Amino acid sequence: MANAAADPSTTGRGLFITLEGGDGSGKSTQARLLEGWLVEQGRTVVRTREPGGTEVGVEIREIVLHHRGDIAPRAEALLYAADRAHHIATKVRPALERGDIVIQDRYLDSSVAYQGAGRVLGGPEVRDLSLWAAEGLLPDLTILLDLDETVARTRLDAAQKRFDRLEAEAGEFHGRVRRAFLDLAAAEPERFLVVDAGDAVDVIAATVRDRVGSLLA
Ligand code: TYD
Repeated sequence: MANAAADPSTTGRGLFITLEGGDGSGKSTQARLLEGWLVEQGRTVVRTREPGGTEVGVEIREIVLHHRGDIAPRAEALLYAADRAHHIATKVRPALERGDIVIQDRYLDSSVAYQGAGRVLGGPEVRDLSLWAAEGLLPDLTILLDLDETVARTRLDAAQKRFDRLEAEAGEFHGRVRRAFLDLAAAEPERFLVVDAGDAVDVIAATVRDRVGSLLA
């Protein structure tokens, strides 16, 4: 019988949780709260993100988010995939094999939503590219923080930070991204937990804890 840990598409002994959603949906806050709760229970957690979860990834992140001027759609998709390939191989998979819980801000669903539906490439080809990069690894749970794109924009404006290349896109682009995320969640209901990112932070955190707790039970 095949050894589960040797199959690159499985998460081995660990648990792989990803957070997805538009810019300004509160993913980082929820990732931090979930990490705190799990650590309190004595779990070993690796909190990470894409793009930029490794040293190589930090350099790729600088290009994809802050390069001045256009990047051809296929090149952009490949840059995210390159970041992902290195991140999964060198950081995420080793953590899962140790039995750790990985909490990751964005993964392949972001590529499908942003590079696929948001740009000119097709969702399925972008997904296939990501799956190739990550040797088929899918999360055990993906938390989608769903938020109306105009509310998200108001939050980002209030934070007054410098917009990256993707955030600077028009509202219509972010509307397409949001619908793409919701379609992905509808297609894989057993992997996704969709929460209303307009709810209070502690209400969302409690919903997330319930679901993660049932996965751990
Ligand atoms: P993120 O680090 O979440 O930025 P922020 O902290 O500003 O929310 O993500 C950076 C941007 O990269 C975000 O606009 C979404 C985009 N992105 C893609 O377009 N494709 C991808 O595969 C990933 C992982 C992110």
